[in-house]
Amino acid sequence: MADREFLVLGLESSCDDTAASVVHFDALGQATIKSSVVMGQNNLHADFGGVVPEIAARAHAERIDICVERAMHDAAIPLSSVDAIAVTSGPGLIGGVLSAVMCAKGLAKGLGKPLIGVNHLAGHALTPRLTDGVAFPYLMLLVSGGHCQFLSVQSPTEFTRLGGTIDDAPGEAFDKVARLLGLEQPGGPHVERWAKSGDAKRFRFPRPLLDRDGCDMSFSGLKTALLRTRDQLVADQGGLYDTDIADICAGFQAAVGDVLAEKLSRALHVFLAAHPTGRTVAVAGGVAANEYLRGRLMSVCADHGMTFLAPPLALCTDNAAMIAFAGGELFRMGQTDDQRLSARPRWPLDNSQPALLGSGKKGAKA
Ligand code: KG4
Ligand code: ZN
Repeated sequence: MADREFLVLGLESSCDDTAASVVHFDALGQATIKSSVVMGQNNLHADFGGVVPEIAARAHAERIDICVERAMHDAAIPLSSVDAIAVTSGPGLIGGVLSAVMCAKGLAKGLGKPLIGVNHLAGHALTPRLTDGVAFPYLMLLVSGGHCQFLSVQSPTEFTRLGGTIDDAPGEAFDKVARLLGLEQPGGPHVERWAKSGDAKRFRFPRPLLDRDGCDMSFSGLKTALLRTRDQLVADQGGLYDTDIADICAGFQAAVGDVLAEKLSRALHVFLAAHPTGRTVAVAGGVAANEYLRGRLMSVCADHGMTFLAPPLALCTDNAAMIAFAGGELFRMGQTDDQRLSARPRWPLDNSQPALLGSGKKGAKA
């Protein structure tokens, strides 16, 4: 399959975005996105302070075929021209993952085309190859509402986890902080905006696990410290002034920045020791939208002579183009599945590493 062009239809429904996309591969393996449709669910979960698995699953089941129709329409390609169907088969919320897996199985069977199960995290981790044709190996930081891990990416099927969060994901921490301060959800962009006018030095929040060796991270203690600060201010002054909110946001963001910067530096040492030719660090996940954090990561990369890459935001957050692309990379290697493909709510990319204690309580999303 490696020496001819082909089209992949990708499907995604592992958390709170239903998505479909058509990606074209030329004979050299260069990929082009023909269409990418994402239907979000923020409005459905807004009242609950997090993703409700049952609501998500129902919405995916209702929308996945609409997404496929739109993706085919936008690509102006008939379904019969698709050469393979790629689908996220894990990790994620089981009810959601099942929606796209069942839809993909039906399409593959009906069209008589190969079915390819894709690990959602591999989709994120391979995105720098889709957007910028980055060569293996490279270092990836996945940083979102559900995940936080450093991955050394060696091939479409070889990933080494160098470290990750042992409790909350940073996006989850941003969302909780926003909730504590009465800001809107999802909290990340609001916390970032308030932080711009804040004094990051007024409150000194903890930098968890910096005193410990390795690349693992922790963000839940940070949120508890912040809760104490908020409650103290409310007890002293009867409420929060705008300057308090801005200073807390700035202090929190600086603490997250210090942790990510230091741990990236450590992950780079490990990565470069194993892969001295590696030149690129890439990020993915919603938190990568944060300009301050991106600046911090960029300067660590500059210190190490590495290129820093942040794919366009629409491809950093959940989408099906990354799934179609990752599926296409497997297809080129001759790796396909059959109708026995099952949904795997837990599916670590790197089985050689012990499971982390937690990968975010918002749902298994990256
Ligand atoms: O990758 P993503 O779209 O999906 C989930 O993992 O849910 O990431 C969403 C997360 C949310 O927690 C959101 O608060 C966070 O990314 N986020 C941000 C920013 N924009 C989105 N966090 C910090 N700063 C931002 N500008
Ligand atoms: Zn994701």
